[in-house]
Amino acid sequence: MFTDYKTHVLGVIDNEKLNNSDKGRNDTYAFRTPTLRNVTLTAPYMHSGKLQSLSEVLVFYDQVKDGTQLNANVSISQLDSLLRPRVTRSNDLIEFLHALTDDTFDRSVPTQVPSGLSVGGKIQ
Ligand code: HEM
Repeated sequence: MFTDYKTHVLGVIDNEKLNNSDKGRNDTYAFRTPTLRNVTLTAPYMHSGKLQSLSEVLVFYDQVKDGTQLNANVSISQLDSLLRPRVTRSNDLIEFLHALTDDTFDRSVPTQVPSGLSVGGKIQ
């Protein structure tokens, strides 16, 4: 499914539209890895939706351990040890992510969902 189903601390910045910082699982700033299937169709990215494109996601991964783009409530020492300098070229990674796209999947937005929450999303 192109996710490890686990939670990790990446230190993504908050969405300023929220009154409070989203602290993730048990207030640790850990968030679950979402599936990367069809990821080319689901911008914006990360839990806060603060990264607008896949290029921005790759720049984020490159810079977060330098403290650039780091959530102000997260320290560098809290970041997941799996985060490490990238060796694959951006274009190759983005091509790979495009290969995970299924153009035939059902994109119709349901009028209601079992939880009763309002239906949103940005599927075009
Ligand atoms: C070349 C390496 C990687 C690529 C191309 C990549 C790609 C992505 C993309 C495109 C997203 C956004 C998905 C979305 O919002 O729907 C994402 C989110 C995420 N990735 Fe990665 N990733 C990589 C490495 C990693 C590593 C090493 C970890 C674990 C330490 C990780 C954990 C996560 C988590 C937890 C999220 C969700 C973060 C949040 O919602 O704030 N990723 N990744």
